[in-house]
Amino acid sequence: MKRTFTLLLAALLFFSTQAHEGMWLLNKLKQINEAEMQKLGFKLTADDIYAINKSSLKDGIVRLGGGFCSGEMVSAEGLFLTNHHCGYDAVQGLSSVEHDYLTDGFWARTRKDELPAGFSVSFLQRIDDVSEKINSQLTADMTEEQRDAKIGEIAQQLIAESSKEHGQSTEFKAMFEGNEFYLFHYKTYRDVRLVGVPPSAIGKFGGDTDNWMWPRHTGDFCMFRVYTGPDGEPADPSEANVPFKPAHHFPVSTAGVKEGDFAMIMGYPGSTDRFMSSHGVKLALDVEQPSRVKIRRAKLDIYDEFMDRDKATRIKYASKHAQVSNYWKYFIGQQRGLKRLKVYDKKKAQEADLMTWVNADAGRKAKYGSVITDLETGYNERAKFEKANVYMQEAAFGSEAIVLGFRMYGLKMQLATDPKDAAKVAAAVARVQAAADELWKDYVPAIDQKVTAQMFRMIHDDVERDLQPSMMHTVEKKFKGDFDAWSAVLFKTSILTSKERLNAFLAKPSLKVLDKDLGFQAAESCLNHYRTFLAPALAAGEADLARGYRLMVAAMREKDPARSWYPNANSTMRLTYGQVGSYVPGDGMFYKHICTAKGILEKEDPTNDEFIVPARQKELLLSRNYGRYADESGELVVCFISNNDITGGNSGSGVFNGNGELIGIAFDGNWEAMSGDIAFEPELQRTISVDIRYVLWTIDVFAGAGHLVNEMTLVERKVAPPVVEPALIEPATTPSKPAVPTKPTKTVAPVKRS
Ligand code: ARG
Repeated sequence: MKRTFTLLLAALLFFSTQAHEGMWLLNKLKQINEAEMQKLGFKLTADDIYAINKSSLKDGIVRLGGGFCSGEMVSAEGLFLTNHHCGYDAVQGLSSVEHDYLTDGFWARTRKDELPAGFSVSFLQRIDDVSEKINSQLTADMTEEQRDAKIGEIAQQLIAESSKEHGQSTEFKAMFEGNEFYLFHYKTYRDVRLVGVPPSAIGKFGGDTDNWMWPRHTGDFCMFRVYTGPDGEPADPSEANVPFKPAHHFPVSTAGVKEGDFAMIMGYPGSTDRFMSSHGVKLALDVEQPSRVKIRRAKLDIYDEFMDRDKATRIKYASKHAQVSNYWKYFIGQQRGLKRLKVYDKKKAQEADLMTWVNADAGRKAKYGSVITDLETGYNERAKFEKANVYMQEAAFGSEAIVLGFRMYGLKMQLATDPKDAAKVAAAVARVQAAADELWKDYVPAIDQKVTAQMFRMIHDDVERDLQPSMMHTVEKKFKGDFDAWSAVLFKTSILTSKERLNAFLAKPSLKVLDKDLGFQAAESCLNHYRTFLAPALAAGEADLARGYRLMVAAMREKDPARSWYPNANSTMRLTYGQVGSYVPGDGMFYKHICTAKGILEKEDPTNDEFIVPARQKELLLSRNYGRYADESGELVVCFISNNDITGGNSGSGVFNGNGELIGIAFDGNWEAMSGDIAFEPELQRTISVDIRYVLWTIDVFAGAGHLVNEMTLVERKVAPPVVEPALIEPATTPSKPAVPTKPTKTVAPVKRS
């Protein structure tokens, strides 16, 4: 009774606070957000987060690669934290059957033991709002093409004028669907090393079953170190390099989280579509999402079949599987969310409302009168080719051999146009070699043979006949429509599917060999189909969509100027703030804001590799050996949720308290709000983060790598936890599984309106 009451109170308390939609630009915080942030519990100022003439929190935020994930500096000597699933590809690349870091984890005992990560990291230096510079040179009567050309020209010039010294570079970004423009200046470091990663049984605990869901018991973290040349500047990987000294590293708080606590997250959200029109929602629901789910499932079934059979294969395909599967489940959830939350109807109502406002004034009508019809025309045009397009992206690109074929197109052009230019031929050969080396690293031809057959069979069976690439004729005529037979011959003969054949070809590249190659023929046919047919067909609707969206967003902002507007995510640094808090996922249900190590033992299932608890971890948890990381009630908090607004790319982002201290690492969203990238759901949408105390416990107590914790700046909690007798908790035999299909992230980043 009491418990129910407390929970109810907590829920009421929570829902009375404001919903926290918004991925805010750092250079606008003072103007738009600072006051509200402080009201919610933020103790610093906007200037402490983003400043260009002194160190600020932004200096501790890491962009991994071009923004595939985020991270945060936690030591003065270059250590940063990110997610396990962000380091997964690097860890997989460093793993072998003998050194299986995926299964066993890895901890560098000394700096010398750290391993090359294979990706670079960047730090944001400065943001420039160049909207005025650009908009002043654009006119309303320009066509979309003229507009783009002008914008491109000015952007080029602005980038050219920016500093390129010491690994600095500049990126140009349009915001608010082409209404505002910004420059982002970065500094990139190329020597990054793996320092520590827990076993997948901790870092990926719950696997695909728990993915995109709360409650979650995953220690989704790993750590890397950034190195610089002896002069402190970016340098190629070298033994002579020294640990990077960041302008800011985050203190780590072990105080833990309470319902309603202020929480903010900084990182690099990849892409959202919050302005998507009702027509876009309809097309996504009718065509895009079901197609992606179907193709990915087919691919995963084949991966599963082979991975179950052999350990080396399991390691080689671990990262590929995780990527395909992450967004397989994402698209299932997104469809479900869009339908359940009636997003189409809501968008329709918003559009009707906007047009009533537009039509009430002659000036507005002249400017914005056609936005909804533009969008409708654009989407109608697009709809004709959407399925063919998605199948090209997901299925044709789903064959690794065919992708290598695409990479060979440059060489083919060189051989066809100017085979005598030895230097250019050699350069084209080197590019193919590099792509092939990348492919062979983790390649099992038997898997790809089956996947290739299945992918092209699906294009053949599902896409309208006249929207298919011409290579289908070959399969129909020469192989009587038998895709397995076609793929078998392709894999037996093509230069794309064997190292020996490829090397022989590259040693003596000839146009004749290429033209006769079954694999290259298929790749070239797909490429030509895309270039000469699909891309232009899709572009026909593009101008209407671009104009429609740009003007619709301009109209929305003009109609509601008092509202705080934020641009869609586009892989630029953003801040989201809100509060830690529970939610009601459905009628009669309540989800707490935290979960603890007890749940790990409840979910344990030795017969299911997604729910294995390593022996050492189990022993430590059963004896309640939580070190100094337990909360006030003596429990070890594993994960928590907050109403922050994040998306893919934010993975690995630090979650900070009101003092700017690290309290967790964000790693996922929740099942009930998977439509969140299109429409934020205030009551339901949550960010799932691993509690920093579980991270510290895993490093310190589980892995015995306390030296890494000692490198951090810990802000220790003052209250001592009560002493609780080690209780023998019987682990449940059946894990509590969410009611979703088992086995469901981004191979090809889902392509938006382009
Ligand atoms: N859904 C998470 C994201 O996209 C990735 C979680 C990785 N874990 C997994 N079991 N695949 O950020």
